[in-house]
Parts: sequence; C-alpha cells; structure tokens
Amino acid sequence: MTTLGIPEVRERRTPTRIGKRYLVRTFGCQMNEHDSERMSGLFEVDGMVPAADVADADVVLINTCCIRENADNRLYGNLGQLKAVKDERPDLRILVGGCLAQKDRDLVMAKAPWVDVVFGTHNLHRVLTLLDHAEEWGPVTEIWEETASIDDVPSSLPSHREVPHSAWVTITIGCNNACTFCIVPTVRGKEISRRPADIVREVRALAADGVSEVTLLGQNVNSYGRDLGLEGSRRPIFADLLRRVGEVEGIRRIRFTSPHPKDIRIDVLEAMAETAAVCEQLHLPLQSGSARVLRAMQRGYTPERFLEKLRLAEATIPGLATSTDIIVGFPGETESDFQQTLDVVEEARFDGAYMFIYSPRPGTAAATMGGQIERGVASERFARLTSLQQRISLEKNVALIGSTVEVLSEGASRKDASMITARTRTNKVVHVAGIQPSGAFLHARIDRAAPSHLMGTPV
Ligand code: SAH
Ligand code: SF4
Ligand code: F3S
Repeated sequence: MTTLGIPEVRERRTPTRIGKRYLVRTFGCQMNEHDSERMSGLFEVDGMVPAADVADADVVLINTCCIRENADNRLYGNLGQLKAVKDERPDLRILVGGCLAQKDRDLVMAKAPWVDVVFGTHNLHRVLTLLDHAEEWGPVTEIWEETASIDDVPSSLPSHREVPHSAWVTITIGCNNACTFCIVPTVRGKEISRRPADIVREVRALAADGVSEVTLLGQNVNSYGRDLGLEGSRRPIFADLLRRVGEVEGIRRIRFTSPHPKDIRIDVLEAMAETAAVCEQLHLPLQSGSARVLRAMQRGYTPERFLEKLRLAEATIPGLATSTDIIVGFPGETESDFQQTLDVVEEARFDGAYMFIYSPRPGTAAATMGGQIERGVASERFARLTSLQQRISLEKNVALIGSTVEVLSEGASRKDASMITARTRTNKVVHVAGIQPSGAFLHARIDRAAPSHLMGTPV
C-alpha cells in the first residue's frame, strides 16, 4: 500500500512501535474512511504495519459513526468482543475515535472501561500522542470542540490508501447547515475550507504518487471557499477549484461528494461539463419529494426546484448519471407525502439511490418533533421505495447494453477470479472478463445488466 508523506509530519516523530500491528475498523461515510486512511498513515509513520485481524493486532482502532442508531449498536457490539481479547492479552490497545466518540465522549469510557483512548473528530492528528499517553498513564479521553487549525484537517496528514490509484481529498470539513434530522454539524463542527493552493498541491503530490482518480470531499461542496476571505483576490469557489484540479496532469477522473441541491448552480455544472477529467456523475441528495417534509427538514428547496436543477445538470453535462439520498418515515410524513417522494423518484429517474429509514438522533430538532412514524409503517414505505428504485436502476442499466464504455480496473473480482471489477466514469460497477491490474484503464462492451452492476467484455 502507498504512504503519501508530507515531510513535516513524518519528520516530527522517530518511529517507536516498529513492527507492531494495527487494525482499523471504519463504520462511517467517505470522510470517516478518509480519516481512517490518515490515522493508518500515522500508525505507519510510527513504524507499525497492518494486522490481518484482531488476533494478530497490537492496536485496534474503531472509527465510529453516529448518523443512524444502528451505528451506535455496532460499536458496543464490537467493544464487547474486544473485551474478551483484552482479558487474554492485556497489552492490546483499544482506541475509539470518530463521530460517535465525539458525541458520546464519557459514555464510551463508562460503558467500556477496557478502552484505552477515546478521541473525537477534531483530534485525529493526535492519535499517536494519545496512544503514548495511554501506555504511560492509563486510559485517556480527549475531545476537542473545534479543529484548532485548518492544517490539522485529515488531508494534510500522511495516508495509507486502500486503493493505490484512487484517493480522497478533503476540501471542507464540518457543515454550516441545519437539516433537522442530521447529527453531522454537532459532531463535525462548523464549516472550514482548505486553501485552494493546498488542495491543488496535494492533488499534484497524489498524481506523482500514481493516483489517477480523486474524489473531493465535503458535507456541502458548493459552499467551498465562502469562509476563506482571501485578501486581494476573488473569493475562490467550487467551480474554480474543479477547473484547477482538472489541470493537474495525470488525474483522469475527478469526482466529488456531496453538493447540496439548494446551493448547486450553473457555474459548477458548466465547470463539470468543460473540465475533461470531471466525471459525468452527480450525487444530489433529495431526502424527500414532499414540499412540506422538505420544509420541516430545513432543506431550503422544493421538489420542483430540485427537479429543475437535476434537469439543468442533465442538459449541461451529456451522459450524466445521477444518484441521491432519500429518508423515509421523517416525523409527520403522511402516506400522501410519501407518494410525492415516489412521484419525484419516478420523474427524476436516478441511476441509483441510498435510501434510509429515519432514525431519531438525540440532540437534533427532528428527534423531538411530533408525529414520529411507527417502525412498521416506515419499513413498508422503505420496501416500496426500494423496489421502485431497483426497477428504474435496472431500466437505466439495460439501456447501456451494447454500448462501449471506458472503465478503470479495481483488480480481480471478489466473486470470480477470472474477471475484474471496474468502474465507469458514471461510477457504475462493471465486471469485465479477463484480468487487468488495479488502476488500468480499458474499454468494455456492456453485455448484461442488473440494478446494481453491469457485465462486460473488453474491446
Ligand atoms: N452532507 C450530506 C449528507 C451526509 S449524511 C448531504 O447533505 O448530502 C448522508 C445521508 O444520511 C443523508 O443524505 C441522509 O439521507 C442520511 N441521514 C442523515 N441523518 C439521518 C437520520 N437521522 N436518519 C436517517 N438517515 C439520515
Ligand atoms: Fe447534515 Fe444537512 Fe449538513 Fe448534509 S447538509 S451534513 S444533511 S446538516
Ligand atoms: Fe460520516 Fe457518520 Fe460522521 S456519516 S460524518 S461518519 S456521523
């Protein structure tokens, strides 16, 4: 695996845990995965190597998520299993970081006193120092309310990338929106943008390290640059950033997530269309198709406005594939509200959707709203929505049969060693006959289609 070194960070430390083994378990979104890569990078700076499993590990880090309730349960299940291992091997170090640690601080230590370190989303660059502290002085909790410096954002740390040719690049951290269902602003803090020159420098370093695909990460990428207040220059905005990253030699695919429907504008769509490396892929989270529910969610758009923006994107970017996030069972959602979601989904014809049953998160505005929906009702709506989306995804994939597309190999397929798994520019998974190394670009003819993948032959 690849370690990208930012010299100052590497030189700050003499390795102290040479040959020890670390294991990182990641429960959350792409930002959480990116944080895990950075913390793995720090472990490697300290001389550690990846462990195959818990039995083999000296240090286990759980990087938590708290977006929905089942994420909480998963942490405590994992910690229960780790306790048995630690009873056998008291030298095992257990670290809990990420969003749930940020939110529940003392609760984690109280429920699982065998944990050595609990730390939050703003302290991840401190993971080695905290581990040292725990070994010297015993269990430690460190949760900062805010990121002390933008230079501590994960992307300015070394990284251990899971896929050598593909990298995440943080452009903003935090979120200034207040969607009433969402815990993210509480755990990730206020929005901070990285300076454009730092982002471009990082992308150049990645390209030099063999990366050909980057995904720019932020909770609301359209608000990139608003807080920078750079003097003497026009304020950098997301559209400019896309164009500048698009100029970096060696980067053939640029993706980003997520734009917010209320903020995405024609300048970004034009930058997507005019920058050759930016992929024909847009993830635009709808959340609900009911104007009333969207208002209660404080999303800042109507279903009509959402559809207008989606159609504008499709008209501006030829061959665009779209995806979305949808929540069913938000407090007060009636059958008629839900029908409107089905109608918008039918009209939007997304290539794919991530669909969720609403999960009340203590501390958010929606958690205490009247009209909480019964689990059974929400599950039944969820089943109807997923079957509609499956049908649409299949129809869109079937329409690709016979066409030839560029794909980027991710190496041998896990199910069939005679095939590779690859991705189209539109971010669709294609299983292609024959073997090609991970990172290879090739063209494939699409022969068969399923709702969530395609099958192809190299041409
Ligand atoms: N910043 C991103 C979303 C991050 S969370 C954006 O605004 O697009 C990813 C998705 O999780 C959200 O889009 C939403 O669909 C879902 N989600 C967030 N909070 C949730 C909750 N309390 N219950 C169910 N799903 C939720
Ligand atoms: Fe959560 Fe809304 Fe911010 Fe996305 S934009 S992270 S859904 S508050
Ligand atoms: Fe991501 Fe979960 Fe945190 S979705 S931002 S890891 S709460």
